[in-house]
Amino acid sequence: MGLMSCQVKQNKALTSPNQEIAVSFDVNEEGQFYYIVNFKNKTVIDTSFVGFKFTNMEPLDKDLEMTVEGLLSVKETWQMPWGEQLDVQNNFNKRVIHLQEKTGQQRQLDIIFKVYDDGIGFRYHFPEQPNVNEVLIANEHTEFNLTEDYKTFWIPGDWDIYEHLYNTTKLSEIDALQYRNHSSLAQTYIPENAVNTPVTMVGQDGTHLSFHEAELLNYSGMTLKVDTENLNLKSNLVGSENTAYKVKQTAPFSTPWRTIQITDNAPALIESNLIVNLNEPNKLGDVSWFTPMKYTGVWWEMHLGKSRWDYGMEMVDGVWKDTGKAHGKHGATTENVKSFIDFSAKNNIGGVLVEGWNTGWERWIGFEDREGVFDFITPYPDYNFDEISKYAKEKGVEIIMHHETSAATQTYDKQLDTAYALMQKYGMHSVKSGYVGKILPKGEYHHGQYMVNHYNNAAIKAADYQVAVNAHEPIKATGLRRTYPNIISREGLRGQEFNAWSSDGGNPPEHLPIVAFTRMLAGPIDYTPGIFNIKFNEYKESNQVNTTLAHQLALYVVIYSPVQMAADLIEHYEANPDALQFIKDVGVDWSETKVLNGEVGDYVSIARKERETDNWFLGAITDENKREFQITLDFLDEGQTYLAKVYKDGKDAHWNQNPLSIAYDSMEVKSSDNLDIKLAEGGGIAISFEKM
Ligand code: NOJ
Ligand code: CA
Repeated sequence: MGLMSCQVKQNKALTSPNQEIAVSFDVNEEGQFYYIVNFKNKTVIDTSFVGFKFTNMEPLDKDLEMTVEGLLSVKETWQMPWGEQLDVQNNFNKRVIHLQEKTGQQRQLDIIFKVYDDGIGFRYHFPEQPNVNEVLIANEHTEFNLTEDYKTFWIPGDWDIYEHLYNTTKLSEIDALQYRNHSSLAQTYIPENAVNTPVTMVGQDGTHLSFHEAELLNYSGMTLKVDTENLNLKSNLVGSENTAYKVKQTAPFSTPWRTIQITDNAPALIESNLIVNLNEPNKLGDVSWFTPMKYTGVWWEMHLGKSRWDYGMEMVDGVWKDTGKAHGKHGATTENVKSFIDFSAKNNIGGVLVEGWNTGWERWIGFEDREGVFDFITPYPDYNFDEISKYAKEKGVEIIMHHETSAATQTYDKQLDTAYALMQKYGMHSVKSGYVGKILPKGEYHHGQYMVNHYNNAAIKAADYQVAVNAHEPIKATGLRRTYPNIISREGLRGQEFNAWSSDGGNPPEHLPIVAFTRMLAGPIDYTPGIFNIKFNEYKESNQVNTTLAHQLALYVVIYSPVQMAADLIEHYEANPDALQFIKDVGVDWSETKVLNGEVGDYVSIARKERETDNWFLGAITDENKREFQITLDFLDEGQTYLAKVYKDGKDAHWNQNPLSIAYDSMEVKSSDNLDIKLAEGGGIAISFEKM
């Protein structure tokens, strides 16, 4: 190969800092741009084309010529104000590619590639230019042309909700359309055979891929349409019934990053920081007004049917009527909340969430006319805001605000300032928001550009009032918490609540061993773990949690969130003080995270070091299969002795036959020690390592 062609070639490629991932790209004879990705000398993404269709312009996908900027190498470290670790390495190689149409309008489009040791990201940038101003995107065509029929862990490409169970099938066997019309969902729309992201794949040789997006701002969420014959994924943006286009933008602007995490083992996927690294640095500055915390709350009792969100709705002749009279089952009463405050204060739990405190719940699920109904400043008559705030403050507990918008977005938008100002007045620094139901205005979907902007604007505004946001029925996490660290957590998956009421058997034991390698790659999860009364037959005979008690404890370490609920009823915790001790002790904010072992959908063990105390915590969970393995404690600080308190499955534990069987152990350990771990079917283990 002559020197010239070698230079040309390098100009059309870039590799990861460790050289294991290589991206090459070019334009073909028709002037179509394509890229190829290799991992360890194997092609994982073969020739894949990109392009855009618009409603106000001709497509932009051919007749292109390319100029490429020089390579930029970045090596830096940044710190998370709260997170899975303190220091994040951000090392990548970057190239900017300029494309321009050779004829006609000579429109320009840039593509920016960043290649990391744990994967790649690329985004499109529409520069300022004479012939492109308003950009109405009908669809983005980004291809991911796979080279193997991967084992794939997927949920359907639902435009309205991510609360589906994960499926495990070959790529060629993905059939998302079978999940249309799910009985337990208040909203769902699956227009075609597509999947939502993150979608994770495991190859024959142990190659792991996960597809997602980063920095989703002023754009639509991306689903991936599956071509089961050609093993090809193609971006399909979430649309709206109100416009022919799916995204409306004005040049100059950039799209979100299209990301592929690429590793040769499952644990490395969880340790990957690709998604947060592809976001901009912190724009809020000091956010120390938000403290990571555990919380209890008036919540599970409503899902079990012990109490209710609303104050006075009654069934009259088969129709729900707002009677205005108390039915006596309202959960958010001053008295009940005080007992949660007492319980939290006694058990080293920082917060209490109160759902159902405000007026509007009489017209919630199923009502068409939801605009103007929910009110985010007016409490029900049996909830004394002042008294509770005062009481909480005395006990050193923070009340967590709840805003169920019922997806009536205009009503919420109108009240944002007054609602957040009320919180600031009472020193409340976090809100759980909710978007149950079909979006109002009609025709919009939860994951389209209108809602992306709604969620982002609400969170950015909340920061002005020192309010942190944990949204349910949210848009997917795309690492924006780096830029806006008041975006603390979110739902965006089938949460614990499904175990209380879904008619399909709840979340199976494999749910969280899948979630850890799929949804959790996107960011923190408000799963609400810690159900002790696993079968709760006194409330619901045909529902239950499908894990052991030790598995529930392990989730405090396995699932990452800076707000972590102790979700069960006070009386269920008080009946089991030995197990409660772990919730009392476990941290929520970490300086280091180590994923010790795991396979997608089977099991995972994670160790995390608490920032405040330097104590370590370990959680391991398994699916419906029992397992034995050894863990080396070499993550512990060398030379330090720890008191290990172990919460493990009892000998006869089983997620269904004997979920409450739990055993306790304690011993002194050092980093040179090994532990033999046994997990029951659907089981888990939780360990705290306290420095001695
Ligand atoms: C759905 C949320 O996921 C759940 O946690 C909440 O209790 C209800 N909406 C009511 O807002
Ligand atoms: Ca939900």
